[in-house]
Amino acid sequence: MAKFPDNFLWGGATSAAQCEGGRCEDGKGLSHLDYVYYRGEKAFCNFMLQNDYNYAREHESELNFPNRRGIDFYHRYKEDIALLAEMGFKSFRMSVSWTRLFPTGLEETPDPKGVEFYHNVFRELRANGIEPMVTMIHYELPIIFVDRYNGWISPEVIPHCFRYLKFLIDEYKDEVKYWLTFNEINMVTAVPFLGGGILLDRDGDIAAGGPPGKPGTALPPELIHRWDNLAHQALHHQFIASAMIVKYAHENAPQCMIGNMFNLHHLYPETPSPNDAFRAHEETEFNMFFCDVMAKGYYPEWILSYYRKNDIDIKWYEGYEKILSEGKVDFISLSYYLSSIVTSDPERQERIGSFIRRMSNPYLETSEFGWQIDPTALRISLNELRDRFNLPIYIVENGIGAFEKPDEEGKIHDDYRISYLRSHIKAIAEAIGDGVKVIGYTPWGCIDLVSCSLVSMSKRYGFVYVDADDFGNGTYERSRKDSFYWYKKVIASNGEDLD
Ligand code: BG6
Repeated sequence: MAKFPDNFLWGGATSAAQCEGGRCEDGKGLSHLDYVYYRGEKAFCNFMLQNDYNYAREHESELNFPNRRGIDFYHRYKEDIALLAEMGFKSFRMSVSWTRLFPTGLEETPDPKGVEFYHNVFRELRANGIEPMVTMIHYELPIIFVDRYNGWISPEVIPHCFRYLKFLIDEYKDEVKYWLTFNEINMVTAVPFLGGGILLDRDGDIAAGGPPGKPGTALPPELIHRWDNLAHQALHHQFIASAMIVKYAHENAPQCMIGNMFNLHHLYPETPSPNDAFRAHEETEFNMFFCDVMAKGYYPEWILSYYRKNDIDIKWYEGYEKILSEGKVDFISLSYYLSSIVTSDPERQERIGSFIRRMSNPYLETSEFGWQIDPTALRISLNELRDRFNLPIYIVENGIGAFEKPDEEGKIHDDYRISYLRSHIKAIAEAIGDGVKVIGYTPWGCIDLVSCSLVSMSKRYGFVYVDADDFGNGTYERSRKDSFYWYKKVIASNGEDLD
């Protein structure tokens, strides 16, 4: 097995919306995920329709909003960072909350308490020898932009967002070297509210939506085309905001490195039939075009022809070609959890994971949440990314979610997590041996936190257990799982001791 480079950035990842809590403390404002409510242990929560959003707003006092509590990182960050340091973390990926700094999103200057909070967190990390890596926007949009503009569909969000992003660079450039612009930027095309604060039937001209509170309501076919159009328009505006801040950082903070972040989803054709193979190729191109725009600085011909063929009418931002070409990222970052199969027969597609409708792979094991475990696909994709972009790659999310309860001795024996991470770390080492320049690895939810798709505490990823349930019951005390001790050994041996 190839060796990891000496300065490899071992660590873990979180996001503000899913772990910070302290929702209205010290003047913090509300963002769109603060209105996504709990619907059951395994129920997908992210809505897309206006009536569901209205329901959340009108029934605010009765509904359960776990993101608002998070895991109380806001008050416990010192204790949490001490645990990360004990594992030997070199790097900690976190996000900054837009609404803690600019509570409504409209302010010209940030809230001093929010500014100080992040200085304190970064100082604490550095004092513990941990390099902070910051996602500027990890699924967060001040609620006023949902109400006024229907999210990122409108270019009006860009100047407000840029004010926030520019502030981050100006204020924290000496404390934070690694930055990511938008978390999983491709998710806006799969889950428009989550990724872009978009409600698909905002205009009320399509009879959409079943009863609010019922997950999985089928969308009428008329909405599918609109969905594609709105999501790609919103994405265009996010590309612009991202490129603008990359350029600004290059000019004003050359010591920083700024990357994109996309959800990598490796796809196999169902059969060797040319139709299936072409379908898999198309889907792969689709997944990669997000990186093309951010790393190469232009829209590839493939996606432009997709827009033409599918009647997708983008209102291009003035001067967008120049903006994109001047804002190319320094490295590629990605989340990777699962692979799946593509068929050319739409009748036979099924749901894999939380968001994607494709076919499952009989050669792979599946987690209890239906996510298929495939370290080899990670190796393949890393090789493809090297060939396509020739940039350093930072794997900023990976991991396995599971239901977990401590045994009588209060221990969590998460051997499935050790096995999942071991196989993926081996795959990364193989890819490094293949000549891929991987610079870091931060598994997701290193401390248990609120699940994004299920908005619950029940689905856990951490090395550290948090005693909290879906309803906010529990002591919120932290304890070490078996994987904590295992990962500590992995880091201490720079990835050589995986037993
Ligand atoms: C990624 C997101 O999609 O996957 C995280 O960037 C998220 O925010 C993670 O939590 C795992 O997904 P889930 O739904 O299991 O929490």
